[in-house]
Amino acid sequence: MNVHEIAVIPGDGIGREVVPASLRVLERLAELHGGIKFQFTEFPWSCEYYLEHGEMMPEDGIGTLKNFEQIFLGAVGDPRLVPDHISLWGLLIRIRRECEQVINLRPVKSLRGVPSKLADAEPFDFIVVRENSEGEYSEAGGSVHHGEDEIVIQNAVFTRKATERAMRFAFDLAMKRNKKVTSATKSNGIVYSMPFWDKVFREVSKDYPEVVTESNHIDALAAFFVLKPEQFDVIVASNLFGDILTDIGAAIMGSIGVAPAANINLNGKYPSMFEPVHGSAPDIVGKGIANPIGQLWTAKMMLDHMGYDELGAHLLKAIEETTASGVKTPDIGGTSTTEEVIGEVLKRIS
Ligand SMILES: NC(=O)c1ccc[n+]([C@@H]2O[C@H](COP(=O)([O-])OP(=O)(O)OC[C@H]3O[C@@H](n4cnc5c(N)ncnc54)[C@H](O)[C@@H]3O)[C@@H](O)[C@H]2O)c1
Repeated sequence: MNVHEIAVIPGDGIGREVVPASLRVLERLAELHGGIKFQFTEFPWSCEYYLEHGEMMPEDGIGTLKNFEQIFLGAVGDPRLVPDHISLWGLLIRIRRECEQVINLRPVKSLRGVPSKLADAEPFDFIVVRENSEGEYSEAGGSVHHGEDEIVIQNAVFTRKATERAMRFAFDLAMKRNKKVTSATKSNGIVYSMPFWDKVFREVSKDYPEVVTESNHIDALAAFFVLKPEQFDVIVASNLFGDILTDIGAAIMGSIGVAPAANINLNGKYPSMFEPVHGSAPDIVGKGIANPIGQLWTAKMMLDHMGYDELGAHLLKAIEETTASGVKTPDIGGTSTTEEVIGEVLKRIS
C-alpha cells in the first residue's frame, strides 16, 4: 500500500465547504484503486487564525509543510477580517515562493452541460503555463520623495533560468497533448524583457521541431481567448500575463467555481500545491451552494502530478458526466447543492 501524506489547508469561507467534500471523493478513489491511501493532515491557517495569533501561519509553518508530499488548499482571504494583502502574502505567496513552486498551471476546458459565456463557443481544451516565481511580480523597486515629487519604481525581473524553465515545461506538456505552443508576448511595447522572452522562446522551440509555435501580443491574445479559444493547446506566459489570461479562461469556462490550478515544484525538493482559481466567496458562504468542481478538478491535477493519471481521468469523466446530467450548482445554471453535486460525482466514480 502506497501511503501519501497530504497537507490540507481549507482556509476561509467556501474553502471549508469544498475541501472536505473533495477529500471524500479522493478517499473513495483511493479505495477503488486499492493500492493507495491518502493520509490527510489538516491545518487551520486562515484569517480567523490570524485574528487569534497575529499571523496567517506559525513561524515554522513552511518547515512543517515541507515534510508533506503535496499541499491541497481551498481558498484564503476574508477582507471583512483581514486586509487581502496580509492574508495573500502571509500564506499563499509564502508557500508558492518558499516551496519553489515555479510553475502555475491552469487548464481551461469547456465542460459538457456547463453553458459557456460565449454565445457560439465551440468546445475548447487548453492549458496555460504561467511563470510563477518572478516577472512583473517582483519585490525589486521602491519609492522616493513625497507629494507631487513622489516617484515609484516597480521593476520586472526576467532571468534566463526561470524563463527557459517555463518554456521547456510548456513544450514538454505540448508534446503530450496536441503539439502546439502559443507564447504570450508584448515585444512591440515592452522593449527589454519581452524581446528577451521572444528570443528564449525561439531558442527553446528549436529543441521541439514537432511542436507548432506562435507568438501573440497579450492584447490580441486576450481577444482570441474570447473569439476563438478552440485554437489553443498550450500557452506560455509571464507571471502577470498568465494571471490575467487565466481569469479570462475561468470566465469562458462558465464560472470561476469550476476552474482548477496547480503550483508546481519542479526540483522535487518541496511539495507542490493544488488550489482552485476561485477565492473564499464570502457572498455565498454557509448557503451550501458553493460549486465543488474547481476543487475537485484541482484534486484531479494532484492525482495526475502524483502519477495516478488514470484515476485523474476517471475523476474528470465523472465530473463531466455530472454536469451533463444537469446536477449543477446555481453559478452554472443549476439548482443543486454542493452535497448533491458531490453525491452525484461519488455515484459516478463508483
Ligand atoms: N487562491 C485564493 O485563495 C484566492 C483567489 C481569489 C480570491 N481570494 C480571496 O477570496 C476573497 C474573496 O474574493 P473575491 O470575492 O474577489 O473572489 P471569489 O472568487 O471568492 O468570488 C468571486 C465571485 O465568484 C463566486 N464564486 C467563487 N467561487 C465559487 C464557487 N466555488 N461556487 C460558486 N460561486 C463561486 C462568488 O460567489 C463571487 O460572486 C478575498 O479575500 C480574496 O483575496 C483568494
